[in-house]
Amino acid sequence: MKITVINGPNLNMLGRREPKYYGSMTLGDIEEMLRGLGRELGVDVDFYQSNIEGELVNALQKAGTDCDGVILNGGAYTHTSVAIRDAVAAIGVPVVEVHLSNPHTREDFRKISLLSDVCVGTIAGFREESYSLGLLWFAGRKGQAS
Ligand code: DQA
Repeated sequence: MKITVINGPNLNMLGRREPKYYGSMTLGDIEEMLRGLGRELGVDVDFYQSNIEGELVNALQKAGTDCDGVILNGGAYTHTSVAIRDAVAAIGVPVVEVHLSNPHTREDFRKISLLSDVCVGTIAGFREESYSLGLLWFAGRKGQAS
């Protein structure tokens, strides 16, 4: 099983960015943690990050043909991007939406996700563990059709 973790804008700044919401781990730390968990679970994990909407659309389309599922933190595009939503809906593999913070406890504009209803599920508010929980869900489905 191969899972691609896709991170959107400003997530390359983790570690320095608003630690009260996002914690102190860098994106590199999170990738290392997920790679280790993937090894334990027998899941290959790939990573992609971009600050650019169209590049995230390209990465989702590629993931749709290259891997068995996607863990997606769309960052601020979660709340604004019809293009990313359409890409999630278009690809044939399950996408789990994740957030480090819990957007429902924050500003009103973060309470709307254009992605949630085209994703299989949403995991939010558990900091970096939101990604681990997504990976555990995929590992539990190994061998099942998508
Ligand atoms: C985020 C929440 C978004 O509202 C925000 O724009 C982000 C990060 C999260 O992981 O908590 O960039 O997706």
